[in-house]
Amino acid sequence: MIRRIGVIGGGQLGRMFALEAKRMGFEVVVLDPQEHSPCGQVADEQIVAAYDDMEAIERLGQSTDVVTYEFENIAIASVEYLEQHGYHVTPTSDVLRITQDRLLEKRFVRSCGIATADFAEINRLDDLSEASMSIGFPAILKTARGGYDGKGQWRIQSLDEGRAAFSAAKGAKLIYERVVPFARELSVVATRGANDAVVCYPAGENTHDRGILTMTVAPARISDNARLRARTIATTIGKKLHIVGTYCVELFLLANGELLVNEIAPRPHNSGHYTIDVTQCSQYEQHVRAICDLPLAEPKLESNAIMMNILGAGKGDHLTGEDELLTDPSIVLHMYGKRHAVNRRKMGHFTMLVDGAVDEPAIARAKAAHAKLGWQD
Ligand SMILES: Nc1ncnc2c1ncn2[C@@H]1O[C@H](COP(=O)(O)OP(=O)(O)O)[C@@H](O)[C@H]1O
Ligand SMILES: [Mg+2]
Repeated sequence: MIRRIGVIGGGQLGRMFALEAKRMGFEVVVLDPQEHSPCGQVADEQIVAAYDDMEAIERLGQSTDVVTYEFENIAIASVEYLEQHGYHVTPTSDVLRITQDRLLEKRFVRSCGIATADFAEINRLDDLSEASMSIGFPAILKTARGGYDGKGQWRIQSLDEGRAAFSAAKGAKLIYERVVPFARELSVVATRGANDAVVCYPAGENTHDRGILTMTVAPARISDNARLRARTIATTIGKKLHIVGTYCVELFLLANGELLVNEIAPRPHNSGHYTIDVTQCSQYEQHVRAICDLPLAEPKLESNAIMMNILGAGKGDHLTGEDELLTDPSIVLHMYGKRHAVNRRKMGHFTMLVDGAVDEPAIARAKAAHAKLGWQD
């Protein structure tokens, strides 16, 4: 019987997960090095320790019935430790190993018969000239491990720029990817249960600014055929990965209709925040259900939605303009309790419920609402 859930990582994803878990009657213990973390503020208990502090990981395992994580850049040794000491942890270290490493991840996706951008592994400077000849420019160099929100990425147009990026990466293993001229960026948030059942939310459409998600439009404005293929890809990946929990598959839709997988997140995803406000069972509740071996719920959108991230500007820690923002009854505000609004840090988001189509006027309304927000000391 599962009563207490452990979470490694105390950010906003952990927070929204904990809020749903608490609503369902579970207790939550979070492990995060930062005291009073976004998740720690709403959990029953926070263990303040590094993600790879094995003594703390042992305590987390001992004090809970199942452990999960909200972030893939944690130490794999922590998940392995829990597995080796008989604690129930999900997703497994096998899932984490693949999704932590962009090279393993892309090879895995291709082994499922699913297309990705052309890529090559870069360990030495010589690999770079070879990759540039076979794949060409424009390209992106990304650190194979540890990147998120566009961190650890360099866009390159020439071998010289590639060399500069290579030295900036200071010996980290890199992946060389062809820049994909996508028509739309999509994501499918899905959940797989231990019984191999998979449920998917409809593909959402994402806009990024320099690698950081700024807006998700749900459902994506794409053909039914593309929607179905995106769903099939996400289902196949979940099943072949044997993941138990909520995960997300990020995709590029090309002008010719082709879909390429960009990456897999083995956890709830920023592009699935809107599910809290417009579905009967959010991506976080599905995760609770999956890891506690409860039945999953076939998602149903009660309304269309536009989610906009609220990023810090490095100009004051207090949000302004909520009073104006909230005059619109279709807006649901979520803030994460972070003390410092560092430039481009994810501080919160809002979901705008959209009655009709999610079209350009609706997007313009969401952007105008977002423009009301600012920061002050
Ligand atoms: N091969 C690519 N072609 C075109 N755009 C890309 C490519 N790879 C990444 N991007 C852009 O950069 C964003 C962040 O890259 P991603 O690989 O998803 O890393 P992160 O882990 O930081 O989310 C993507 O959502 C996309 O907008
Ligand atoms: Mg991404």
